[in-house]
Amino acid sequence: METSSSAKDKEKQVAALAAVTYIENGQVIGLGTGSTADYAIREIGKLVQNGLQIKAIPTSKKTQVLAESLHIPIIDSNSVDYIDVTIDGTDEFNDDMVLIKGGGGALLREKIVASMTRKQIIIADSSKQVAQLGLAFKLPIEVIPFASNYVMNQVRELGGACNIRQKEDKTFVTDQGNWILDADFGHIQDPKSLSHSLNKIVGLVCHGLFIDLADIIIVGKGNTVETILFETS
Ligand code: 5RP
Repeated sequence: METSSSAKDKEKQVAALAAVTYIENGQVIGLGTGSTADYAIREIGKLVQNGLQIKAIPTSKKTQVLAESLHIPIIDSNSVDYIDVTIDGTDEFNDDMVLIKGGGGALLREKIVASMTRKQIIIADSSKQVAQLGLAFKLPIEVIPFASNYVMNQVRELGGACNIRQKEDKTFVTDQGNWILDADFGHIQDPKSLSHSLNKIVGLVCHGLFIDLADIIIVGKGNTVETILFETS
């Protein structure tokens, strides 16, 4: 069943509200990027106004602007050794808690922040939960512009038909000055193996497969949430 956009917004909002309850006074918080993360950031802004003391690291310039407008204190990512909690969105996730991220083009900083984070909380509306990764959403890949043609050819050899992302008739440029390829691999059956192969391509800065980086996924389901915890074996 299709979820209407207002129903999706409600689900994003309830997931965001549930996620902010994990934040504690004195923590360093990673702030994700995208419409779902924005709900959490606005909620964190309210908590800060009511006395919550945190320091935040944004995953994009856009998120930084929003956080600053809400008077959330921002710190440099290099001023800490780790981040306590990050709340971020996703474009897709599967039963193994593998994510595809990068729809907003912030995947590089998002992956760095996720890697620095002790408790990574992913929030999503129910449409993001998929049985087969990669079918509905292409895999974003950040590339150095100088290497884009070479990287595209390498990605095609791995089975991914790709295009350079355009926005408003212009090449989309990331916060780091790079470009994004959107690669269609069809159903990504073995994300780990694809991730390893992509990581070997010179000039490819980052890809949007997030593996073993989510500790908790909170999915909005109507007016309520389902919380999925990463199980360590
Ligand atoms: C940005 C991302 C976002 O988390 C992802 O695109 C989801 O966005 P939204 O919450 O607007 O659906 O990865 O790079």
